[in-house]
Amino acid sequence: MERFRITGPTRLVGSVTVAGAKNAALPALAATLLAEQPVVLDNLPQVQDIRTMTRLLEHLGVSARKAETGLELEPAQRPAETVAPYELVKTMRASVLVLGPSLARWGRARVSLPGGCAIGVRPIDQHLAGLEALGAEVRLEHGDVTARAERLRGARFRFAIPTVTGTENLLMAACLADGVTRLTNCAREPEIVDLAKLLQAMGASIEGAGTETITIEGRPALGGARHAVTGDRIEAGTYLIGAAISGGEVLVQGARPGDLTALLEVLRESGAEVEAGSEGVRVRGRGELRCPDVATAPYPGFPTDLQAQFMALATQSDRTTTIHESVFENRFQHAAELNRMGARIRIEGSRARVEGRSRLLGANVMATDLRASAGLVLAALCAHGDTVIDRIYHLDRGYERMESKLQQLGARVERTA
Ligand code: UD1
Repeated sequence: MERFRITGPTRLVGSVTVAGAKNAALPALAATLLAEQPVVLDNLPQVQDIRTMTRLLEHLGVSARKAETGLELEPAQRPAETVAPYELVKTMRASVLVLGPSLARWGRARVSLPGGCAIGVRPIDQHLAGLEALGAEVRLEHGDVTARAERLRGARFRFAIPTVTGTENLLMAACLADGVTRLTNCAREPEIVDLAKLLQAMGASIEGAGTETITIEGRPALGGARHAVTGDRIEAGTYLIGAAISGGEVLVQGARPGDLTALLEVLRESGAEVEAGSEGVRVRGRGELRCPDVATAPYPGFPTDLQAQFMALATQSDRTTTIHESVFENRFQHAAELNRMGARIRIEGSRARVEGRSRLLGANVMATDLRASAGLVLAALCAHGDTVIDRIYHLDRGYERMESKLQQLGARVERTA
């Protein structure tokens, strides 16, 4: 199993270019199942989850080949398979994104139920209730979800809780339903807006993506399109926090400040200098840090996917910071690992109290999930000595060439077997 060895402390200085957003690329890939002609996707990040989703699509009869710039996905004319197998689903919960489009296109779909995972129970009840509202018959059998519907029918559906992939699944399914669908209490993440842009380019009629209410007028068929996936706000945010924690200066080219408002406000309040312009976002750490308390929330709130990275930052603040994780239960596993490096973090239910001014020391730590690992990397940058982070396959799921981007910024990082 591969590891990172990071020698700190080090200041991150320079610029990096943001990759395409993994969380926008995954639904974009799933949406190609709806098309009757080829779809070309540009700016896909080179990360493991994208390779997994591509394999899953191939399993479902889509042929994928490298185009001059992106990936060309040619849809199946009839489904070779409508089953998303457990071997693929277990490594990536977002596999559930093929459920809505497969069902809408072929009238049936079977997806292995994603198991419990490192950051909480993460049910998919809202995806299923929404598909039922569109007329699907949904069953749970042998650990698989099976959904059937001759033709989906437009309907009204209110999400009990705003769910990102749930909103995406329903949005995709409704594009081929008969009539109008009105989804309320939708998630508003920029990745949903990006998916809607692709679907519109394929001929879908969608209004309100990025707001709580999305209205979709179903079409009998969708065509091909070309789409460049939006930049990764979580990757961008990770390097920006990296600048603040290391007292360095990083320009993330291609970062969209409008998608990062909550983080940029927190960084400013913490005492970092933030400049947002047309080429991207620059953060300059200025030594003294005074982090505000933070509560994660659905977009436009502070992203849960940046909570671990912010926790690393809070260990260097000059006050005790409270972090409330309100999106996922059990998303604090990085706290114990940070404590092994000398942090003083106490978990009380969904709250973490992070004492500031901790002198972190390099240690052997274990990555537990994708974003937790990013928090450990940032802590290692300001720790004294060598930190060895085990199980970095978690990082490889979502960060493109992380070690070379960090090296480009002056960090001493090596990947070892
Ligand atoms: C997506 C992101 C993930 C991010 C999360 C929250 C992708 C591929 N992944 O995950 O990186 O951390 O949004 O920003 O885009 N819930 C239910 N029932 C459901 C669905 C969700 O109760 O049917 C709950 C979840 O347990 C969680 C909350 O809703 O507490 C939000 O989860 P959700 O937005 O669905 O997360 P994902 O879409 O899985």
